[in-house]
Amino acid sequence: MRAAVRTAKYNGVEVFGIKRGYAGMIENDIEPIDSRSVSNIIQRGGTILKTARSKEFMTPEGRKKAFDNLSAHGIEGLICIGGNGSFTGAKLFHEEFGIPCIGAPGTIDNDLYGTDFTIGFDTAVNTAVEAIDKIRDTADSHDRVFFVEVMGRHAGYIALAAGIAGGAESILIPESSEDWHKMLDLFMGENKSKKAFTIVVVAEGEEHGGAMQIVDRLKEMDPKFDARVTILGHIQRGGSPTAYDRVLASRLGNAAVEALLRGETNKMAGLRNNVVVLTSFDEAINKTKHLNPDLMRLVDVFNC
Ligand code: F6P
Repeated sequence: MRAAVRTAKYNGVEVFGIKRGYAGMIENDIEPIDSRSVSNIIQRGGTILKTARSKEFMTPEGRKKAFDNLSAHGIEGLICIGGNGSFTGAKLFHEEFGIPCIGAPGTIDNDLYGTDFTIGFDTAVNTAVEAIDKIRDTADSHDRVFFVEVMGRHAGYIALAAGIAGGAESILIPESSEDWHKMLDLFMGENKSKKAFTIVVVAEGEEHGGAMQIVDRLKEMDPKFDARVTILGHIQRGGSPTAYDRVLASRLGNAAVEALLRGETNKMAGLRNNVVVLTSFDEAINKTKHLNPDLMRLVDVFNC
């Protein structure tokens, strides 16, 4: 937001902030903002504009109200920070009313096609790794097994990165079904692990329903099986952004406004191989970004 506002001001463009996304657009919660409005936010988590899910924007009547409010303010272009749902709304809005929109990928899940990293992912992973490091102290001291559940309703990016960085013996993610059998081998197979303590990282969207359910299943299979579960939850969605996320957001916020000024629309600014690129909303919404198989392989290699 800071990067987008300042890039617009640098180019002599007036900026408005829309509170709570599409909900604020419909309710006319729209205010002018300037460079000073985004002072002292670079180190903050969350968003000063707030955010919301809007059911009304999914209706033609809701979008018409939103358009009327934007027109009343003389707003001619939109920067939309969000993920799949936000971009789907922006695309539809453009098709109906012709307001150009450029997106910046803001989600901790990192599951958007067209960018190697989404804004917030690195911060969430670092929060998870810090927690795993602390859990590791108890696991080590007590020779215990810990299952740590991280966010990722549909995607295993956080689990994979946090698991590798946190030295996990096993990582369970929605994208793989082999990981379940490998984890069973680790605890119950013929060559079961002889390690004194074990850390398993589980993505919340993993097919068995999360860490609690997995441990219950394992206890059913072997009543002597003992493990502790930690669910990290929403601490992963807050806190001061990492330097990496700040630089990424600065680059993408800037690129989004510059693209809008060049007359681009219905595209998301992303980073691929460290180069800022635009990807159509269609592709960003519909194509799947596949997990890097090299990273998945590492879990097996390191578990010797
Ligand atoms: O969409 C990102 C995400 O962080 C998911 O990984 C998580 O399941 C979800 O949001 C949590 O959303 P809410 O706070 O609305 O429950």
